[in-house]
Amino acid sequence: MDSSVPLVLLLLMCSSIMVEAQLKVYDLRATDLPTVVLLTTDAYVKVSSGFTSLGKTSVRYNDANPWWEEEFSYFNIKENDTLTLKVYDLDLVFDDLLGVCKRKLKVGTYQHDCFLTKGGTLHYTYTLG
Ligand SMILES: *[C@@H]1O[C@H](CO)[C@@H](O)[C@H](O)[C@H]1NC(C)=O
Repeated sequence: MDSSVPLVLLLLMCSSIMVEAQLKVYDLRATDLPTVVLLTTDAYVKVSSGFTSLGKTSVRYNDANPWWEEEFSYFNIKENDTLTLKVYDLDLVFDDLLGVCKRKLKVGTYQHDCFLTKGGTLHYTYTLG
């Protein structure tokens, strides 16, 4: 078991050199979403960073002011990487993109309001550290 000690030290050294951080995205809410298709707003949010998908929320049916309880975590991320949130309205054929929120990440915890191009606002919080 002695051989495991240098390995732990090596891992610690690597992680401090690569300045990788952990991202958590949470408390996603939207207000005043527009009614675009079929007279209901069935919204969900896709979360990504660069080409990596962090996942998507559930659909909140017939709710113009939805709140999503999902949290999204990502470990392989750095300061100044981009966080992208895309808000969609579920439709039978093509889901309608209500707006895109992009932000360059900083270390710390931040709450943001993002105005969607088709109306309404997405509120979210992230922690990078
Ligand atoms: C992120 O961007 C800021 C401002 O442009 C810069 O000062 C900082 O060094 C950058 N951080 C990293 C990890 O690249």
